[in-house]
Amino acid sequence: METGRHENIAALLAHPSFKFFRYDIIEPFSVAGPVDRIYNLACPGSPPKYQIDPIHTFKTSIIGGMNLLELAEEKSARILQSSTSEVYGDPDISPQPEDYRGLVNTVGPRACYDEGKRCAETLFHEMHERAGVDTRIARIFNTYGPQMDPEDGHVVSNFIMQAFTGEDLTVYGDGQQTRSFCYIEDMLDALTALMEADEVISSIEDPVNLGNPRGIHDAGTC
Ligand SMILES: NC(=O)c1ccc[n+]([C@@H]2O[C@H](COP(=O)([O-])OP(=O)(O)OC[C@H]3O[C@@H](n4cnc5c(N)ncnc54)[C@H](O)[C@@H]3O)[C@@H](O)[C@H]2O)c1
Repeated sequence: METGRHENIAALLAHPSFKFFRYDIIEPFSVAGPVDRIYNLACPGSPPKYQIDPIHTFKTSIIGGMNLLELAEEKSARILQSSTSEVYGDPDISPQPEDYRGLVNTVGPRACYDEGKRCAETLFHEMHERAGVDTRIARIFNTYGPQMDPEDGHVVSNFIMQAFTGEDLTVYGDGQQTRSFCYIEDMLDALTALMEADEVISSIEDPVNLGNPRGIHDAGTC
C-alpha cells in the first residue's frame, strides 16, 4: 500500500547526496555499495490505509522486515524498526511501560497492522540474538505535523479537516480515551538519537517507547 506522496521529497531530489529508489520491500532487492544505517519506516500507518489490503500490510511488516534485516546483515549496517504503540493493543493500563505485554485482538480489523508490527519486533530481536544484527526498535506513539495526509484517519487530521469544513467533530466511544501526541520534529530527533545511541545500555536493542509522556483525552480515534 503506497501512502507516501512524491511532492514531500521534491526538495530533496535536487540534493546531490540524495537518491530515491522505488521498491516494494516485500520483494527481494539489493543495494550496491556500503550501507551504514537503515531506517525501516515502510508500512502504511493509518487504519483506513492499512486495512485496504491487510495481507499486504502484514507482509510489509514481516517479509519486508526480513528483507531489510538480511540487507543489514549483509552490509553490517545498523537497522531501526519503526514499531508502534499499537503493539499494546487496547491496553488496560496507561501509560504503558515497555515490559507491558499488550492486549491485541489477533483477528480484529487492526490485527494486520498490530500483529505484523509485533511479529516484526520478534524478527528484529531474533536477528539480533542469533545473527548479531545491530538493531533498534522504536515503539512510536501518535505523531503529527506538516504534510500529514488529511485523509489518514488519525484524530489530529480528522479534527482539523472537520473544523475546516464546519462539520461536527467526531467523538468515538465515551470520549474518555487518551492519546499521547508528539510533534514530527521531536520524533525525528528521538529516532536519530535512538539510532545513534552507542553507550552501553544493556537493553538498547530492546523496544523503546517514543512519544510524548503526557497522555491527553482526544475523544477521537487512532
Ligand atoms: N504516524 C504515526 O503516528 C505513527 C505511529 C506509530 C508508528 N508509525 C510507523 O512509522 C512509520 C511511518 O509512518 P507514517 O505515518 O509516515 O506512515 P505513512 O503511511 O504516511 O508512510 C509510510 C510509507 O511507507 C511506504 N510503504 C508502505 N508499504 C510499503 C512497502 N511494502 N514497500 C515500500 N514502501 C512501503 C508508503 O508508501 C509511505 O511512503 C510506519 O512504519 C508506521 O507504522 C507511525
